[in-house]
Amino acid sequence: MDRQRGFMDRVAAMGGGRYEIVTYGCQMNARDSETLAGLLQQMGYEPARSREEATLILFNTCCVRDNAERRVFGNVGHLRARKREDPRLVVGVCGCMMQQDGAAERLLASAPFVDIVFGTGSLHRLPELLCQYLEEGRRQVLVETDARAPIAEGLPAVRQSGVQAFVNIMFGCDNFCSYCIVPYVRGRERSREPRDILHEAEQLAKAGVKEITLLGQNVNSYRASDGTGFPQLLRLLDGVVPRIRFMTSHPKDLSDELISAMAELPSVCKQLHLPVQSGSDAVLERMNRRYTAEKYLALVEKLREAMPGIGLSTDIIVGFPGETEQDFEATMELDRLARYDSAYTFLYSKRRGTRAAEMPDQVPEEIMKERIYRLIAQQEKITAEKLAAFVGTEQQVLVEGASTRDKKAWMGRTDSGIAVNLTGKDIRPGDMLQVKIESAGANTLRGRREE
Ligand code: SAH
Ligand code: SF4
Ligand code: F3S
Repeated sequence: MDRQRGFMDRVAAMGGGRYEIVTYGCQMNARDSETLAGLLQQMGYEPARSREEATLILFNTCCVRDNAERRVFGNVGHLRARKREDPRLVVGVCGCMMQQDGAAERLLASAPFVDIVFGTGSLHRLPELLCQYLEEGRRQVLVETDARAPIAEGLPAVRQSGVQAFVNIMFGCDNFCSYCIVPYVRGRERSREPRDILHEAEQLAKAGVKEITLLGQNVNSYRASDGTGFPQLLRLLDGVVPRIRFMTSHPKDLSDELISAMAELPSVCKQLHLPVQSGSDAVLERMNRRYTAEKYLALVEKLREAMPGIGLSTDIIVGFPGETEQDFEATMELDRLARYDSAYTFLYSKRRGTRAAEMPDQVPEEIMKERIYRLIAQQEKITAEKLAAFVGTEQQVLVEGASTRDKKAWMGRTDSGIAVNLTGKDIRPGDMLQVKIESAGANTLRGRREE
């Protein structure tokens, strides 16, 4: 960071400007955008109140599925005319997509108005890239492909919300699920040191944050240089803030030790996102997931035994190469047995460079779509039944902010992660309230604060 300090000062001396960051993809990218915003603000930039006002626009991209990628190309393309009218506008593209084989070159060739391009491994070098672009007027490109690049600590951040915050505990992924591009664009697994994580959590607590979500592609394989594993990390962080959540957990690494830590620790929310991907053992095998449907369901049972009200959600891919009607039926059955509170369902998307892209029997799109509709309809019914069971109960809700749908209501979450729209007097973000649940919608609950 010291090297970047000089570049920051040089950019700041040019008078700053207004920035907009457009973020795609998962929480990792959302967290990275907070760092990018932090760096920009240290260089004298302020957030733009509208796209028109921005003097610097940065796209933080995702490439996990084809549609994410198409949206990026489309939205970057929209700036072509704007840049012609206003050549001083700075356009940057960063994130996972730039880290993909050949993607940066393709973008650079098709979008000559893009000024700065960098990958996920070069985030902290934004000051250098921006400085050189502004001083020399030449396009800056920096995509480091060292999958083991060390973690940059001590970066600034502008947090999205005052109540809850994301905290990275590790970067990268070593699992190489056969459909997934993430290990290629985010590199090998690297864990942050417990003291750095604790320090960040304590700073957030001091700033008034009530809930932190620990982030990693597979938090269960967190391992610090001193041997600290994920359950110990949770024990270390317990009590620093009132609520701790984490994602994502890989079923193959979910240990008994973690389940007991979750059950015992008062700050750790009883909520788990546990992607299953498929209910067919044959498909799971080809996905390289390293568990069977039976093993997965045994985990679900163990979790519910240890934490009866635990909120469970999952990710499911429909139409993986070679998925037969029978395989899909197995997924439908697993979904019924697991009774998730919610499920994110995705059409399989072929990613160049992954093993699954080379597999025979790619499933035609119409069949995939017909299957996913059946799965969504079934899960919607289960979600509705699970939400309806909350009506009449009292829940402890952490208020996050104003409800986006209803101007007069607030939005908060139960310990198990379900969104609650609530009304009542003298409510402020950050309040932990007892809320009487009065009704249930498709994805949210509605309630009133107990007087
Ligand atoms: N590390 C996390 C999340 C990875 S990406 C995990 O292991 O769960 C989030 C989700 O995107 C995955 O769980 C998977 O369901 C989905 N996904 C990843 N690659 C995909 C692809 N090629 N096609 C469709 N869905 C995909
Ligand atoms: Fe992708 Fe699998 Fe790693 Fe998740 S665990 S990021 S799905 S390779
Ligand atoms: Fe997308 Fe990168 Fe996340 S590919 S899902 S933004 S790790």
